[in-house]
Amino acid sequence: MHANNQTNYGVLLDYFPSMVYNKTMRINKYLSGCGIDSRRKCEKFVVDGRVRVNGKTVTELSTDVKDGDVVEVDGRTVSSATRKVYIMLNKPKGCICSASDEKGRKTVLDLVKVRERIFPVGRLDYDTEGLLLLTNDGELANKLMHPRNMVKKVYAVRVEGEPSDAELRRLRNGIEYNGIKYSPAQVRVLNSENNETKLEITVTEGKNHEIKNMIESLGRRVMFLKRSEIAGIRLGGLSRGEWRYLNAREIDKLKSL
Ligand code: URA
Repeated sequence: MHANNQTNYGVLLDYFPSMVYNKTMRINKYLSGCGIDSRRKCEKFVVDGRVRVNGKTVTELSTDVKDGDVVEVDGRTVSSATRKVYIMLNKPKGCICSASDEKGRKTVLDLVKVRERIFPVGRLDYDTEGLLLLTNDGELANKLMHPRNMVKKVYAVRVEGEPSDAELRRLRNGIEYNGIKYSPAQVRVLNSENNETKLEITVTEGKNHEIKNMIESLGRRVMFLKRSEIAGIRLGGLSRGEWRYLNAREIDKLKSL
């Protein structure tokens, strides 16, 4: 049994305090990233003496700012938190969905370097790959992770052997395993060969290790696990370890959930 079966909802709070990047960024880029104006216009704000960094007026366009700097325009503090970013990563195996790891393992934040303090929306196991959303939009992340919203997540799963019809029915009817209830899943059998079966499993809960535990409850092992879709957003052709910003249509789709 894979331990730690609380839902992923709640991990969000783990991420806010500790995720600080020390990357620097040109002042105009920073300001436009905060939604102040275009980069060109923000340059003019600087040259015109309207911008202060840590209490000092800056007029050089070569000024860099880093996380933690207090930046003001016309006396009003701006914040990179005002710029919301929405990213999808094709998480490879061998990295964890945390800000840091005491064992020194690679984290998903080593793969996605952006200025904003982003955090993963939910978790994939160390040895699971596929679609992981990252954002600094706490509200949307909450919505996606809250079990009440029953957000669909689709997994490609390779299991040992060939599950019988009765076993598939158990997955489709919902399972209780080691005292934890798993809601009915949609299960499609894709093919069976070399003593392995490929399934597509759609779940709406987001419990930790839910696919592995559901399969383990049948007395079988998961050989390969990849998430391909969340709430209708698909990984598509993104290569392992690559990331991209979501487009406007994808963001709207998530927000309209
Ligand atoms: N279910 C699992 O068992 N592991 C994951 O990483 C995701 C879903």
